[in-house]
Amino acid sequence: MIRNTDQRSKDYKNISHEARPGHADFTGYERYHGFNDIRGGGHFSGRLTAPLVFAGGLCRQYLARRGIYVGAHLESIAGIRDHAFDPCETSEGRILAPENKAFPVIDDMAGEAMREAIEAARLDGDSVGGVVEIMALGMPAGIGSPMFDTVEGRLALGLYGIPAVKGVSFGNGFEAAAIRGSENNDAFYMDGEHVRTETNHHGGALGGITSGMPVIAHVAFKPTPSIAKRQKTIDYVERKDAEIQVQGRHDPCVVIRAVPVVEAVTSIILMDLLLGESN
Ligand SMILES: Cc1cc2nc3c(=O)[nH]c(=O)nc-3n(C[C@H](O)[C@H](O)[C@H](O)COP(=O)(O)O)c2cc1C
Repeated sequence: MIRNTDQRSKDYKNISHEARPGHADFTGYERYHGFNDIRGGGHFSGRLTAPLVFAGGLCRQYLARRGIYVGAHLESIAGIRDHAFDPCETSEGRILAPENKAFPVIDDMAGEAMREAIEAARLDGDSVGGVVEIMALGMPAGIGSPMFDTVEGRLALGLYGIPAVKGVSFGNGFEAAAIRGSENNDAFYMDGEHVRTETNHHGGALGGITSGMPVIAHVAFKPTPSIAKRQKTIDYVERKDAEIQVQGRHDPCVVIRAVPVVEAVTSIILMDLLLGESN
């Protein structure tokens, strides 16, 4: 149990009737007929990612013992891009390096520009989103199953459980839609005894089954919905138009905090897939 010793429930008084645009106050009210706890965002709060990170920490230890390493970084914030991971990476040191920095990027100059964009949004009473790139090294080939237990499907289900996630793609994802098969296909080759591919557009899974190449996903987060700007909304109890100015402590960008959450969820799902490998 992780006790919240720093709550400020009164900050949420004005949203007991007024729906924060982009947040789950209205949909939660509809789903639970007013019995949802709105203090701190209740079930929809980013705080609920803390136990995920705890569980993910245990799964990472299990994975490391099998030679599997999961690392992530901020691929972009507000459209400002970091360098990408090498899709054919073989060194766990390189994918684990960003998480040991205060600001988890590969290119610190890009990180500085991201920080400035976040601060500019904050000063404007606004917020920004971004993308987390996640890579898992060392997954053996042959894990996962077609249709409903695909590696991509299982990871997407877990990753969409993280609040504010609005997109998940694998390998070169949506970019694959614009290129030819000859450009998108990854040529196989033998690296000693190991089967590898020269490029990794497929993101480590073919037919929903791991190929043995790094598993790569991109996870898009929307801008924090609770912003200081005055916004148009409704009073969802009285059913009338209203205005809202959200109070309280809200990050102008949740994506930095979300990096360990993405690592944790990926670790939980990959361990689960490995435990099911004998089925
Ligand atoms: C680590 C983390 C922290 C978050 N912190 C906030 C916050 O301070 N304020 C806020 O409005 N939303 C925050 N969110 C996002 C909301 O929880 C989320 O947007 C909301 O539940 C609606 O769900 P949806 O965006 O997935 O549709 C956070 C998300 C994460 C992952």
